[in-house]
Amino acid sequence: MWGGRFAAGPASIMREINASIPFDKRLWKQDIAGSKAHVAMLAARGIVDGEDAQAITEGLNRIAAEYEADGVPVNLDLEDIHMVTESRLAELIGPAAGRLHTARSRNDQVATDFRLWVRDAIDEVEAGLLALQRALVTRAHDHADAVMPGFTHLQSAQPVTLGHHLMAYYEMVRRDRSRFADARARLNECPLGAAALAGTGFPTDRHMTAAALGFAKPTDNSLDSVSDRDFALDYLMAATQASLHLSRLAEEFVIWASQPFGFVKLPDAYSTGSSIMPQKRNPDAAELVRGHAGRIMGCMNALCVTMKGLPLAYSKDMQDDKPPVFEAHDLLGLSIAAMTGMVETVTFRTDRMRGLAESGFATATDLADWLVREGNIPFREAHHITGRAVAAAEAAGVPLDRLPVGTLKDIDARIDERVYAVLTVDASVASRKSHGGTAPDQVRARIAQAKQELGL
Ligand code: ARG
Repeated sequence: MWGGRFAAGPASIMREINASIPFDKRLWKQDIAGSKAHVAMLAARGIVDGEDAQAITEGLNRIAAEYEADGVPVNLDLEDIHMVTESRLAELIGPAAGRLHTARSRNDQVATDFRLWVRDAIDEVEAGLLALQRALVTRAHDHADAVMPGFTHLQSAQPVTLGHHLMAYYEMVRRDRSRFADARARLNECPLGAAALAGTGFPTDRHMTAAALGFAKPTDNSLDSVSDRDFALDYLMAATQASLHLSRLAEEFVIWASQPFGFVKLPDAYSTGSSIMPQKRNPDAAELVRGHAGRIMGCMNALCVTMKGLPLAYSKDMQDDKPPVFEAHDLLGLSIAAMTGMVETVTFRTDRMRGLAESGFATATDLADWLVREGNIPFREAHHITGRAVAAAEAAGVPLDRLPVGTLKDIDARIDERVYAVLTVDASVASRKSHGGTAPDQVRARIAQAKQELGL
């Protein structure tokens, strides 16, 4: 492709380090789409004649059919997908193929292809996250009043409902989707036609190619067009954040599936057995989602470091932009699908959750609040009185609501029988009606809104 100036071919190690075709073959569809849009514009502007443009377009269609059927041939002599396709085009239609690269460079070509690819990737993630939200809302709806212990420091804190807990993840995923939507809107400007770095002297129409490829507009600075990869980093940062959320949910499933917790029975379809311990049911899928978050974050880090010291405009370092994005996207897709499958099919052991909520003194705050309300006692003092009640219950080995009223009165004379109405876990959750609180009425109202958001 640049043989005119060169007397010798590359060393074999140069061929190997230089080639991106082993991975950028994944851009083939976007590359063909970009080339078709480009040649249509060249013809419309009279830069290439109609006959050549038609031969080029037909050739590109044929190449697309070949790639679809047989995959993209990898031959390290042809560095990347752009060269593989152009050289195949030359085989198919002869010298007219050489007109396709008029008024463009591989620098704007690869920037365009990669933006198109990331845009498609975002659309895939969006569909996956939507399915996950649907699963969360559906299960939350079924368990809007199922009481479980809520934790802080992984210590029983106050009772909450399982529906409320699942809806917490709904909110996280909602924000993840909005991050991807932001990234999509920001990337949707077309670099094609920026050429190598400075624009072109040919009378091109960049608005035409931008529109043909579904971009909102052409980019406004040719140097920026070929030299930034912030759109890929936006994707990786959104992917990192989403993977952190998935990983936390995965971690909860790992904990909940452990024997001491026993909050869930993970489905066979997402568990593995042990080759030596017949009783084992291991939460491998959840553990791998947790593990993948680390790798996705690594991909983001890799591209940050690649980009941080590059002067404008294109440098070959930027060829390394693609593998981390491809890897992160594959890992994220698997993670979303696995978590969605688990959320859809996991068995929640709500009896066990309720039992633990009742045994952990989780209504202690309710007792303190009652003392404030009914006895007009300052909260700090109420906290102290309640602490003594918890100690008495612990010593007697009973939950708070089974302490005899005499014992409670001995601790503080202002306590009477009415207190039992707030000491059950159901009363506790029902009382937390503040906006966003765990009261089943609140949770159900949010679920109804969420269903509307999702079109359910
Ligand atoms: N294979 C290259 C990449 O992925 C294409 C751009 C090459 N441009 C250049 N000036 N060598 O980045």
